Amino acid sequence: MNFLGVDLGTSSVKIVIMDKQGNIVDSISKEYPVYFPKNGWAEQEPTDWWNATLNGIKELVAKSEVDGESIKGIGFSGQMHGLVMLDEEGNSLRPALLWCDQRTQEECDYLNNEIGREKISKYTGNMALTGFTAPKVLWVKKHERELFDKAAHMLLPKDYISYKLTGEFATDVSDASGTLMFDVENRTWSKEMIEILGIDEKVLPKIYESWEVTGKLTKEVADYTGLSVDTVVVGGAGDQAAGAVGTGTVDTGIVSVALGTSGVVFASSDNYSVDDNNRLHSFCHANGKFHQMGVMLSAAASLKWWVDNVNKDVDFEGYDDLFLKLIDEADKAEIGGKGLLFLPYLMGERTPHSDPDARGTFIGMGMTHERGHMTRAILEGVCYGLRDSLEILRDLNVPIEAVRVSGGGAKSKLWKQILADVFNVKVQTINSKEGPAYGGAILAAVGCGLYNSVDEACEALIKVTETVEPIQENVEKYNEYYNVYKDMYGILKDSFKKISMLDK
Ligand code: XUL
Repeated sequence: MNFLGVDLGTSSVKIVIMDKQGNIVDSISKEYPVYFPKNGWAEQEPTDWWNATLNGIKELVAKSEVDGESIKGIGFSGQMHGLVMLDEEGNSLRPALLWCDQRTQEECDYLNNEIGREKISKYTGNMALTGFTAPKVLWVKKHERELFDKAAHMLLPKDYISYKLTGEFATDVSDASGTLMFDVENRTWSKEMIEILGIDEKVLPKIYESWEVTGKLTKEVADYTGLSVDTVVVGGAGDQAAGAVGTGTVDTGIVSVALGTSGVVFASSDNYSVDDNNRLHSFCHANGKFHQMGVMLSAAASLKWWVDNVNKDVDFEGYDDLFLKLIDEADKAEIGGKGLLFLPYLMGERTPHSDPDARGTFIGMGMTHERGHMTRAILEGVCYGLRDSLEILRDLNVPIEAVRVSGGGAKSKLWKQILADVFNVKVQTINSKEGPAYGGAILAAVGCGLYNSVDEACEALIKVTETVEPIQENVEKYNEYYNVYKDMYGILKDSFKKISMLDK
C-alpha cells in the first residue's frame, strides 16, 4: 500500500510516494513559470500546473519501483489564496491570480473600511489582505465583468488539480479558510461574504475535511498515469497546514516555524479563537482543529537577496560556497551584529504590519562593521520579525513548549541557534525533510483508513531528531535588541510610505 503527496507550489509541483511505514520511496519535481504582467501582479496558468502534475505522476510511477496499482490514495498541499475561474465546461477563463499578487488594495480598503473589519472578522475570523481570494473576486468583478459573469466555478489552485483528476469540485477547510469567503468557526462557506461579493454559492466547491475522500481518479487519468481507477483523492490542505502535518504540529504546545522564502509561525489550537485586531490569520487546521499563524514575506528571501543581489561579484567557488562563507563570517561576528539591526521588509510585510510599502533597512551602521555583522544582522532580523508573531501568540496565551523548524533555513545550525535564543524556546528538527508534500501523503493515508486520525498518523510517523536549546546569556542580549527592533517599524512607517511614492 502506497500513497502520493502532491505539493502544488508557486515555482514547482513536488510529488512524493510514501509507503505504509511512512518512508518516502521516491519523488519528482516539475517547474512552471510565474507571470508578472504588471508590477505587483502575479499569475500562473492552471493548465501549466495540470500538465506538470499529470506528467509528474506518470513519470514518477514509471521511474519508481512501485506498482501504480498499489497507490491507494492521493493527498495535496497547495499554494493558498489563488483564484482559478472556470466556465461551464470546466475550461480556465483567465490565468489564476496568486497569493502574492498585490493588486487588490482598493478592494481590501472597501472590505475593511466600508463593510468594516469587525464585520468581516465576525463572518470569516480574518481581515481582508491583498493576498486573499475574496478581494481578487471583487477585482475581477470590477475590471473584467464579462469573465466574472461567465465564471461557473471559482477554485483554489490545488482544487483545480483535484477537479482534473476526479471530475469533482471539492476543497478542504484549511485552504478554504484563506479565501475570506469561509466561516472558519463553523467550517462552512460564509453566506454573508457570498452576498457581499455578489456570487452564487454554486460557483464554490463542496467543503471537506482534509483527510476526507472527495473522489476517485477518472478512467482517463488512471490509464494515462498507470494508477488504478480505485485510487482515491482526499481533500488535502493549504501548504502551511499540510506543512504542519508534515512536521507533526497538530497539538497545542508545539509551534512550527517555516524558514522558507516567506517565514511562518504556526500554532495548532483545539478551539477557534481570533484576536481583536486580526493580527494573526485564524484558520481551520487539517486535523479537524484550528490554527493561528503569522506570515512574514521575506525570511530566507532576505538572505537570498543578500547573497544574489549584494554579494554576487565576490570571489567564490560556487553559489553554495559563497553561502557557506557568508554564514561562517556571521557565525564569527558578535551577537547583535555589534549594534546592527536589520528590518527584513524587502517585499513589504504581512504579519504584524500588513504594509506593502515597508522596506528592508539596516540601522546602526558604524565604521567597525564588516560584512559578517551585516549577514548576522539579517539572520537575526528575520528571527525578530518571526518573534513579532510569536509574541502575539504569547499575548493570546497560546502555550509554546517547543518550536519545530522546517524550510531551507532549517539547514543552518547558526540560524536555528539564533531562533532558539531570540524566541527563548527550544528548536526541534524532525526526521522528514519533505514538509508539505509529506503532509499531503499523510492525509491520503488517513483517508484510506491506515490511521484513525491525522494526529494518530503524526504520532506514529514524526520523530524529533535534533533539539537546539536556547543559551540564556544570548537570550538576555537578544531581548534588548528585540525591544529596539519592535519600535523601529512604527518610527519608519511614514518614511516608507513617502519613499514608495517617490519610486512610483
Ligand atoms: C499562506 C501563504 C503562503 C502561500 C504560498 O498564507 O500565503 O503559504 O500559500 O506558499
